[in-house]
Amino acid sequence: MKWIASAAFGMEGMTGRDLKHLGMQNVRVMDAGGAEFEGGFEDAFRASLWLRTCDRILLVMDRFEARSYEELFQGVKAIPWETLLPEDAAFPIRAKCVKSQLMSPSDVQKIAKRAMVERLKVAYGADWFDETGVTFQVDVSIRNDEVTVSVDASGEPLSKRGYRTWNGEAPLRETLAAALILQSGWHPWQPLYDPCCGTGTLLIEAAFIALDRAPGLTRRFAMELWPSVDYEKLIVLREEAEARFEKGRQRALNIAGSDINPEAIELAQRHLRQAGLQGRIALSVKDMRDVTLTGEPGVIVANPPYGERLDNLRAAHAVARQLGALQRRCPGWKLCAFSADAGFEREYGRRATRRRRYYNGRIECEYRIFE
Ligand SMILES: C[S@@+](CC[C@H](N)C(=O)[O-])C[C@H]1O[C@@H](n2cnc3c(N)ncnc32)[C@H](O)[C@@H]1O
Repeated sequence: MKWIASAAFGMEGMTGRDLKHLGMQNVRVMDAGGAEFEGGFEDAFRASLWLRTCDRILLVMDRFEARSYEELFQGVKAIPWETLLPEDAAFPIRAKCVKSQLMSPSDVQKIAKRAMVERLKVAYGADWFDETGVTFQVDVSIRNDEVTVSVDASGEPLSKRGYRTWNGEAPLRETLAAALILQSGWHPWQPLYDPCCGTGTLLIEAAFIALDRAPGLTRRFAMELWPSVDYEKLIVLREEAEARFEKGRQRALNIAGSDINPEAIELAQRHLRQAGLQGRIALSVKDMRDVTLTGEPGVIVANPPYGERLDNLRAAHAVARQLGALQRRCPGWKLCAFSADAGFEREYGRRATRRRRYYNGRIECEYRIFE
């Protein structure tokens, strides 16, 4: 079976590399949208459990060209849906159109639905479907007239790990936070500090990496309910991941953070508890101007307010200056800052050693690494 591990702009390569580490077959990083791989249901489940920067795992049902609604209809109808969907399946359709002849997602959705119903009518000898059973979210994506029809194996996006039920002011998506940690060059045996940690996302994702904790360990995935999946085999994979975390959590951890806002720290404490990391990450209420880091140098990661959504630009610039001063106070520490503020380096007082572009929602941001 062919699968897509969908990933946001800038994270496709990391997702492809992680798929290779997991031992997946025929991994190919796509130009946009993520990476492909081949494997069975268990491989897809393992990818869902372990991929840190991937948004969704999609089962590719078919790929074909379509420049007319008739071609789309025939292409969708030719897919053997009955091999995956039971008669009572619910099958909502999501559609996306980019640079193609067919550019109306709502029409694409309607035609694809009609084609699926036609196919299933013949397969099940029925003329009406109540759709009261398990949900199979179908994805029809058309790019440059090439149609990819897939079924979402994840359900909720994989960024929802299950530990964040209370949101702070501008929390980072968990997949993006994991990407920032992976990109920072931090080694899990080094100290890590976030001086404006908010609800703790960067710290928790770093701890998951250090303790060999699968990001999807405590959540469920849509594919677990699919009748053609051998659920017993998935249980074994989840138990393996639990055992790895049991072992990993014995490791020493040198991760800490602070924030000026006491409410954010309270939320971060809750998230730590929900992530099974209570007592493993030191948190305190502190203005970053009062942060001093002693001992073995490590990595400072920060997602400061950047003027677009929080505070105003002047305040964001002040925080950039404070981060520059923090790095000067902590010789040997690397500092990595994720911000949309174009004037960040000027205020910080140095040019970044490396930069990478990402999107936080729709906001274009830069990840700047100051060695
Ligand atoms: C964009 S949010 C960080 C969000 C965080 N990454 C998360 O996932 O929740 C920026 C944080 O910087 C904090 N902050 C602003 N000025 C600060 C200062 N001078 N010292 C410490 N923290 C500060 C804010 O309270 C806010 O929580």
